[in-house]
Amino acid sequence: MIDHPISAPGIELSLSRLRCIGCGAVHATVEQDFRCPDCLDLLEIFYPDWQNRGTMQTTAPDLEALKPLWQQRKTSRLAIDESGVWRFRELLPALHDWNAATTLCEGNTPVYQLPSCARITGVEQLYAKHQGMNPTGSFKDTGMTVAASFARENGYRWVACASTGNTSASMAAYAARGGMRSLVLIPEGKVSWGKLSQALDYGAVTCQLRTDFDGCMQALNEVVKRMPVCLLNSVNPYRIEGQKTGAIELLEQLDWQVPDHVIVPGGNLGNASALGKAFVELLELGLISRLPKLSVIQAEGANPLVRCIREQGGKKLIPVQAETMATALRIGNPASWRKAVRVLEATGGAVEQVSEVEITQAKAEIGADGIGCEPASAVTLAGLKKLVKQRFVKTQETVVLILTGHLLKDPEFTLKFHRGDLFRGTEHEREAAVLASHQRAPIILDANVDVIVKTLEQAEKNGPTK
Ligand code: F0G
Repeated sequence: MIDHPISAPGIELSLSRLRCIGCGAVHATVEQDFRCPDCLDLLEIFYPDWQNRGTMQTTAPDLEALKPLWQQRKTSRLAIDESGVWRFRELLPALHDWNAATTLCEGNTPVYQLPSCARITGVEQLYAKHQGMNPTGSFKDTGMTVAASFARENGYRWVACASTGNTSASMAAYAARGGMRSLVLIPEGKVSWGKLSQALDYGAVTCQLRTDFDGCMQALNEVVKRMPVCLLNSVNPYRIEGQKTGAIELLEQLDWQVPDHVIVPGGNLGNASALGKAFVELLELGLISRLPKLSVIQAEGANPLVRCIREQGGKKLIPVQAETMATALRIGNPASWRKAVRVLEATGGAVEQVSEVEITQAKAEIGADGIGCEPASAVTLAGLKKLVKQRFVKTQETVVLILTGHLLKDPEFTLKFHRGDLFRGTEHEREAAVLASHQRAPIILDANVDVIVKTLEQAEKNGPTK
């Protein structure tokens, strides 16, 4: 084992507590369903010491020391320093044994400029934080390392989740890594094959239920009451803590220059809650001096948050029957909606919804920048176009899109699109005609050099796609 200090001298690790977001009750222990036993609302982790620290920001040298410390850890060979999550452990709940963290070197994801998308939207300072570059190909890994580590530390032998695919892939990997078994509940026929195959390969007991995501979640809530399994959906507040680090790492990559806007896809709304929590905490601690506006984009067919804000003033969520080809977002009754509303209010962000054709076009446009993402991630660019039109986003402002999943998560969607099959026979077929210029079906030829050269010349004549 490498002899290395877990934290630098003079920098303490934070004491954390669990608090209900509804009634504010602070709990010493936590129920299997991670809900407040008094009012059944969600719990959040908070750090009682930070209140005092925040007010002393100018005289608290340990806070100023954090930024160089986090940077310096990038050169360490210690597993928790190599992790782009645990590297920020002063802002996370403390493990009893840091060396027992279940980690796959998650986080450490790139921030890219998007020159072609910038031209399309008119937003010159346009970046993508690509969380699809995590070990299992989605942002879920950043939360999973923390939640799985706590499950293991608390002696759980089984972990479980309901999922539209990415959570299950991530959970199964971290369970395998941590020597735990995993139970996955997914809606039958509604999860992309890439994600399903990951869960299988990492050894999860994978149940495809004849219901939707919301039905899987309901079933799981009953299972955890009957069996000693640790629930690893984003109602688990440790997941949220880990996912916060996406925001911290982003700011570090931008040299702590706060962007004007951060745009995320909204499904079960854990990610929006986590990134927003990070920004608010960093402001409270004095590590940044203002908040970015955090906006949430949903698919039109899976838009409960948009409706909650527009029709209920953010006070009440009316579940919807979710339907979208961006299968990761097929969620009608998001668990973390109250946390997400709080983030929208705190940061002054917007909610927007985008159509299936808009999502598909945006995905192709991101692909044309040489990056690629899964359909759910592309709602961010589609939403940005609308927010620019509404002048909520000004073209001279700095915008970061959070790309949540890797292109290879759902190759079927991409292939169907390029072959022209995606919208065939659907109600969107007419509207989808605008996508023709983005389509690149594979060309089947004989292995004949003349024919290949002719094809190349033809492509040159037709010009670039953008
Ligand atoms: N993008 C991707 C690629 C996702 O997989 C998800 C959610 C989201 C965005 C939305 O994030 O739920 O935090 O609002 N996927 C879930 C799953 C729910 O089971 O994998 P959210």
